[in-house]
Amino acid sequence: MVAFRLPRGSQVRPGRRVPAPDGARNVREFRVYRYSPDSGEPPQLDSFEVDLDRSGPMVLDALIEIKNSLDSTLAFRRSCREGVCGSCAMNIDGTNTLACTKAIDDVRGPVKVYPLPHMPVIKDLVPDLTDAYAQYALVEPWMKTESPPPAKERLQSEEDRRKLDGLYECILCFCCSTSCPSYWWNGDRYLGPATLLQAARWLQDSRDEAAGERLDALEDPFRLYRCHTIMNCTKTCPKGLNPARAISDIKRRIQQRR
Ligand code: SF4
Ligand code: F3S
Ligand code: FES
Repeated sequence: MVAFRLPRGSQVRPGRRVPAPDGARNVREFRVYRYSPDSGEPPQLDSFEVDLDRSGPMVLDALIEIKNSLDSTLAFRRSCREGVCGSCAMNIDGTNTLACTKAIDDVRGPVKVYPLPHMPVIKDLVPDLTDAYAQYALVEPWMKTESPPPAKERLQSEEDRRKLDGLYECILCFCCSTSCPSYWWNGDRYLGPATLLQAARWLQDSRDEAAGERLDALEDPFRLYRCHTIMNCTKTCPKGLNPARAISDIKRRIQQRR
């Protein structure tokens, strides 16, 4: 696998222009980032004229129409097409979001579609998330206990369960981490808002018994404290979550135990 990371500040050169099929009446232009490692060529921005009468209303629908009718080599990830799997995260009209829940009508002018920013690109709109998932694994996102297991299950009060609201809904799309300037510059050592929200989720879980060791692993100038409250993460989260608040909750817990 070859991955390519677009150099900071570099421009993507204009690419091909692919017209809509003959007879199309409801045409919209989509400018789509293309990069194919096999070609040896630098990235380019292809322009596709999509017949919206043949497409559903979301940007993902248009990408599927491009792939079906105009260019079968276009690569992107998708699965659920209803905002729950996180796989179609990309940068649309300058904002990180989910292609399957982003309405074409919400974009003015040509619809510009790029991969998630500052990540290595495997092909076209497919980012390489290997490092991001390794960081996720680092916070050990599962329940850790030392007490003997009960006969049936570890119960949780309704009140404690409610404390997970705003955390458990994360779909790990990484829109937040890839919108964070601190993550852009220090993504090799800063864990980023997506992974830190997951860490906060397990710290908040009343059934988990490993808070001390979890905080030990997070108390680090880079892993946690590279968050400078820039807030892009919360602004961009397509699920309406607040990773910035989750991060400040972790910092507060560390402060309180000192
Ligand atoms: Fe995606 Fe929001 Fe979770 Fe970040 S917090 S990974 S933006 S769902
Ligand atoms: Fe980045 Fe969000 Fe913190 S944008 S700096 S993780 S508040
Ligand atoms: Fe699953 Fe978009 S396809 S979130």
